[in-house]
Amino acid sequence: MKEVKGKVAFITGAANGIGLGMATVFGRAGMKVVLTDIRQEDLDRAIAKLRADGFVVHGIRLDVTDRAAVARAADEAERMFGRVHLLCNNAGINSFGPMDEASYDDWDWVMGVNLNGVINGLVTFIPRIKRHGEGGHIVNTASMAAFVSGPGAGIYTATKFAVRGLSECLWYHLAPQNIGVSVLCPGLVNSHIYASEEVRPKSLGEHGYPVNTEFMQGLQNIHQLGMDPIEVGEKVLRAVQRADLYILTHPDHKEELKGIFEEILAAYEDEAPEPRRMAFEDGRRKNAAEVKKRGRAVLQGKS
Ligand SMILES: NC(=O)c1ccc[n+]([C@@H]2O[C@H](COP(=O)([O-])OP(=O)(O)OC[C@H]3O[C@@H](n4cnc5c(N)ncnc54)[C@H](O)[C@@H]3O)[C@@H](O)[C@H]2O)c1
Repeated sequence: MKEVKGKVAFITGAANGIGLGMATVFGRAGMKVVLTDIRQEDLDRAIAKLRADGFVVHGIRLDVTDRAAVARAADEAERMFGRVHLLCNNAGINSFGPMDEASYDDWDWVMGVNLNGVINGLVTFIPRIKRHGEGGHIVNTASMAAFVSGPGAGIYTATKFAVRGLSECLWYHLAPQNIGVSVLCPGLVNSHIYASEEVRPKSLGEHGYPVNTEFMQGLQNIHQLGMDPIEVGEKVLRAVQRADLYILTHPDHKEELKGIFEEILAAYEDEAPEPRRMAFEDGRRKNAAEVKKRGRAVLQGKS
């Protein structure tokens, strides 16, 4: 989506951190921006600041786990600004603790926001973007945790692997229809995510592991080392304009990624592939490559 001026962006989790960074950058680029968030006060503050900077913005309180509310927010966005072209499924929370001790509530909360929230955005907006026929772009916020695993944030990591997987697959379906898909995979960002427990619903209050407040305080300090969310937003905008699938904002992880892929490849035993299976897999790969070529041509305006 090379031309963004005058177009409409809808962002979830936009009152703080990365979502607010994207909203600011999109506003500067002349987009009309709908900011949504579960935190009303933070949303009001963000809207007031962006309006004072002269941007065209609208705020909607939204819990992304509430499907009916996501549809209502989409209606409101269209009533305010017209057709939505850029959807950023960004709202997310984190929960740190030993995954083997997690309760169903721990799972339901993190999966509900980080994965189902993205799904709710997709199911609500994809038909609307297709219907207006002007093309568009979807950015799903995952994380470096979509590639990198370790102890500490297991459920979070599971959701981010899923967001990456669904984004990669969705690209094939939407690119030929002139709708780009990106998966945003940041490393550390200076945001408010360390305070996620504040927005955990009481109905999902059974903790499998205790909330470690000392650790959360430490996390706040660590996040101060993070990238400025505006810088993340600028990288997102450039990626949307180039129609990139992967938005890898932090070079800090390049060597780590190399190491992960090398470790995976090294797990193969030293044996040759089975020829008939290989012929089938080659056919599958060829089909995917053709769709990719067609999709890229459409997104680059060369079809
Ligand atoms: N900060 C990082 O280091 C980092 C790194 C990689 C990925 N991410 C991802 O970036 C995204 C944004 O996080 P952030 O770091 O900017 O955090 P943040 O807490 O600063 O912003 C996230 C926003 O989402 C909102 N939110 C939480 N639950 C919600 C719900 N149910 N419905 C609607 N809004 C809800 C919060 O109120 C908050 O304003 C998340 O998906 C996160 O996983 C963050």
